[in-house]
Amino acid sequence: MKKRILTGITTTGTPHIGNYIGAIRPAIEMAQKNDESFFFLADYHSIIKNQDANKIKESVEQIALAWLSCGLDTSQTYFYRQSDVPEILELSWILNCVTAKGLMNRAHAYKSATSLNENDPDKGITMGLFSYPVLMAADILMFDSTHVPVGSDQIQHLEMTRDIAARFNHLYRPLLTIPEPIIEDKNKVVPGLDGRKMSKSYGNVIPLLCNEKQLKKSIMKIVTNSLEPGEPKDTNGCTVFDLFKNFASEEEIIDFQKAYDEGISWGEAKEVLFNIVNTEIEPIRSKYEDLSKDKNFINEVLEDGSKKARILAKDKIAQIREVIGITKIS
Ligand code: ADP
Ligand code: TRP
Repeated sequence: MKKRILTGITTTGTPHIGNYIGAIRPAIEMAQKNDESFFFLADYHSIIKNQDANKIKESVEQIALAWLSCGLDTSQTYFYRQSDVPEILELSWILNCVTAKGLMNRAHAYKSATSLNENDPDKGITMGLFSYPVLMAADILMFDSTHVPVGSDQIQHLEMTRDIAARFNHLYRPLLTIPEPIIEDKNKVVPGLDGRKMSKSYGNVIPLLCNEKQLKKSIMKIVTNSLEPGEPKDTNGCTVFDLFKNFASEEEIIDFQKAYDEGISWGEAKEVLFNIVNTEIEPIRSKYEDLSKDKNFINEVLEDGSKKARILAKDKIAQIREVIGITKIS
């Protein structure tokens, strides 16, 4: 059977090195290896928690630019904005009608939001947050995706998608493809400046799309211990070393390990890290600078992507409408 990979990127914030290592770089590699791939900007997911229109717009642009600058070949993949494919929202409603409320009650994101409330458990909780997994199921089922790469925090959403699809197939006809998750490597958690997981919510990120000076400044801010130059240093749990590993070959890692044993200074170690990151990022940065000058280009790419995707989506939604009885009177 043909493999069809699909994954969504929530458009909040601007991309960082953690997103690059954990999501963008492996996805582009996967796209090169697999039969068909779908990468989309989940902008309707992003309005669940963010009501700042300018931030949403900026984030869509930055995230689209990041994927394009990192070398995503849009002639080989479906790259689109969720909101440009309205059939997804249509499917989302249809799926809402077959989804048990009890299933949604068990969603981790919803449960953790209610658990923070004291008197009224639903205080501040929107229907958007509650039915988030249904929209995600629609994203996936719309295109008969067979494999969905996700982080471990998204496994439950994938299980819900499978449940919802099975319920639809049981009630009507087996029209929806049951997808398999591809779970990202847990060891691939990229640490941020303070050693915790690099995340925009911790404010500890190294930006992906910054200039050389900003990159260096950011890397120099990585928290280290107070060992002096000349004193041997431990690579275990060392943020500088862990970041380095994501960009280096086996030999470069062995050499850097040696330098640690021989007491490299933190300043020098960070310089080595900066050089290796900068070498990999340089072509991305230069493409980013070119592409940012041409906003029309980004719009065109996304429009083309949604046109291609909508051909499939329209066909699928027509079949779905037919089996559920939302069809012409005959
Ligand atoms: P953030 O934590 O900054 O909000 P997101 O949750 O938007 O990042 O992550 C988008 C994608 O980037 C996820 O699929 C995740 O796999 C990847 N990612 C984010 N941070 C890291 C990290 N520190 N290490 C590895 N992958 C990451
Ligand atoms: N919920 C995912 C996240 O926060 C993003 C997403 C939206 C997604 N729709 C999807 C991922 C469909 C995979 C498939 O990371």
